[in-house]
Amino acid sequence: MLNFEYFTPTKVVFGKDAEKDVGRLILENSAKKILLHYGSGSVKKTGLLDRIKKSLDENSLEYVELGGVKPNPRLSLVYEGIELGKREKVDFILAIGGGSVIDSAKAIAYGIKDEGDVWDFFAKKRLASSALPIGVVLTIAAAGSEMSNSSVITNEDGLIKCSYNDNLSRPKFAIMNPTLTMTLPDYQTACGCVDILMHTMERYFVPGDAMEITDSIAEALMKTVMVNAKILKKDPQNYKARADVMWASSLSHNGLTGCGQGNGDWATHGLEHELSALYDVAHGAGLAAIWGSWARYVHKDCLPRFKKFATNVMGIQPVSSEEETAIKGIEAMEDFYRSIDMPISIKELNVFPTEKELELMAHKCSLVAGGAKGIAKVLHEKDMLEIYKMANK
Ligand code: NZQ
Ligand code: ZN
Repeated sequence: MLNFEYFTPTKVVFGKDAEKDVGRLILENSAKKILLHYGSGSVKKTGLLDRIKKSLDENSLEYVELGGVKPNPRLSLVYEGIELGKREKVDFILAIGGGSVIDSAKAIAYGIKDEGDVWDFFAKKRLASSALPIGVVLTIAAAGSEMSNSSVITNEDGLIKCSYNDNLSRPKFAIMNPTLTMTLPDYQTACGCVDILMHTMERYFVPGDAMEITDSIAEALMKTVMVNAKILKKDPQNYKARADVMWASSLSHNGLTGCGQGNGDWATHGLEHELSALYDVAHGAGLAAIWGSWARYVHKDCLPRFKKFATNVMGIQPVSSEEETAIKGIEAMEDFYRSIDMPISIKELNVFPTEKELELMAHKCSLVAGGAKGIAKVLHEKDMLEIYKMANK
């Protein structure tokens, strides 16, 4: 096992009507003027935005607002938010939404405190020295950004999707009311479940000895998400299933499932980010479309972990050949993806890249990663292209 640091400073307020506490939670952070940041309309349709404004009014908090965040959030809106935030002298950002809104809020939070171009951080040119505090009212269980140190932004100039990871951006609080996720389209619920699983799988498929406690937590988390994803497919209004999935989304990406395992593999995420940058697909669906091909390409280099995954998570009876057991585990995960209507190939995403576009994605993916990505097997540009070709069926 490896040494680790575990840092999760986010206060979680979980349960029915939890958003009623938003004014109080902001006051705890000594803020006075808030930037309310949200997406393309769901928070207005559900009445959530009005309820939040009411809580802010009751606590005599001033606010300005900036909606319009799109899935795979764009840099241009981040710039708009930075300008607005500086002009209005906001001292806190409240993200109301999912990963896209939270990530956009995090980028704005860096930018308001900085005199230069916020994209520098995402382009890995320099590190942020501070960030405005942010809070979250979560409306979709998926990205885990409500407790993570990560922000993922797409620069429209070149369609470059990059992440910047820094503890400065970890939210001060995350309000999680599972009921808020009941208005999600089924497709988004399923995409979210895939992303949650993947955040744990990226940390599970690692070489060397792992901590048994971390593995046990990770395996329980993955099994819980799969069971509840199937329940939600039939019964989207099931509160208990919504609650299990919502808490899993945070635990999957706040560092807990990586303690002692190093930083994780993250190749599937890197490969997916190029897909969603170029074709604007939902992140979770993109991950499902790539994962099986990645797993088949790398499993021989990380066989003990794939075997453990097959038996402990997917319930496969081990056969004498480790490799065969591993493959059965990969197939079982793909069967699960299918069972919740997720794609297991790029074509099933309804995008049809040409050979040249596959080459472009592999090239960009390796550039963003600084040449190589992954630890289950280290992937270079040619390996990335092979995986894209395998997935493009
Ligand atoms: O914009 P609105 O109208 O709110 O609609 C959203 C959006 O269309 C909708 N939605 C959200 N909550 C809803 C709802 N619709 C009805 N009822 C609700 N309660 O769902 C759609 C997807 O929202 P989005 O925020 O994009 O989803 P998600 O949370 O999956 O975030 C995806 C983004 O997060 C990044 C992804 O790459 C992608 O850009 N990630 C961020 C990470 C992080 N910061 O730690 C880690 C992840 O690996 C991931 O890369
Ligand atoms: Zn993800």
